[in-house]
Amino acid sequence: MLDTVKAWVRQSQRMAVLTGAGVSAESGVPTFRDAQTGYWAQFRPEDMATEAGFRAHPQWVWDWYQYRRDLLAGVLPNSGHGALADFQRRHPDRITLITQNVDGLHQRAGSTGVLYLHGDIFENRWLNTPRHCCHIDHAVAGHPPYCDRCGNLVRPGVVWFGESLPPATLGAAEQAVARCDLMLVVGTAGAVYPAAGLAHQARSAGARVVVLNPAPSALDDVAQVVLRGASATVLPQLLGE
Ligand code: APR
Repeated sequence: MLDTVKAWVRQSQRMAVLTGAGVSAESGVPTFRDAQTGYWAQFRPEDMATEAGFRAHPQWVWDWYQYRRDLLAGVLPNSGHGALADFQRRHPDRITLITQNVDGLHQRAGSTGVLYLHGDIFENRWLNTPRHCCHIDHAVAGHPPYCDRCGNLVRPGVVWFGESLPPATLGAAEQAVARCDLMLVVGTAGAVYPAAGLAHQARSAGARVVVLNPAPSALDDVAQVVLRGASATVLPQLLGE
């Protein structure tokens, strides 16, 4: 099956790649839904990844994001991220990289123009619509930082459950998927929409769809081929020269 997909990669003129937390697992970044090791085995997403959870316990949630930022500062992109970046360097017009990850590891590996569907954990923004006083100079350090004039809180620039994806980014992803002839779906459980819907859209539009995941995913049925393997090993095999 690996050879079949390698041939599909060689033939492809426009490939879309959707990645999830699994591509960063071998860098030492926990996934969300893996049993025991995933973040959601320890925490409830409604506490840590919703606006209501943040409003209820801003300090707790902020500290968790700070912990994740610190963890990311100590890890490196792996050979899966590297293979995607190398492929783009060799074939800049043939790949669009779409990720649900907020960890910035694709960019650190050298990928450019990455479509970050769920935002960037290293960005901050105001929780409430900023008033004229909510200037970065007025943000007082705290857990979380806040505006010293009106008390508005700073929150991480990620997309939480119940929030819309950045429309321009989602639009660009949908366009890439509609035009692709091959879609690789790598390291995602396929449980979160609209991101997972991109795989269905690719298949409906006539593209070949390949899932790469060491475990069963909700998108296996959408794919013509499912490769059971780890992305840091298999992506270099698929995308290498
Ligand atoms: N290589 C490839 N895949 C792997 C690896 C690996 N080395 N290790 C684990 N995986 C797979 C798991 O089998 C699982 O299917 O990665 C997937 C990770 O799934 P999730 O933890 O659900 O992560 P993801 O699909 O990215 O989650 C989507 O949910 O919590 C939200 O916003 C968060 O962006 C996230 C979204």
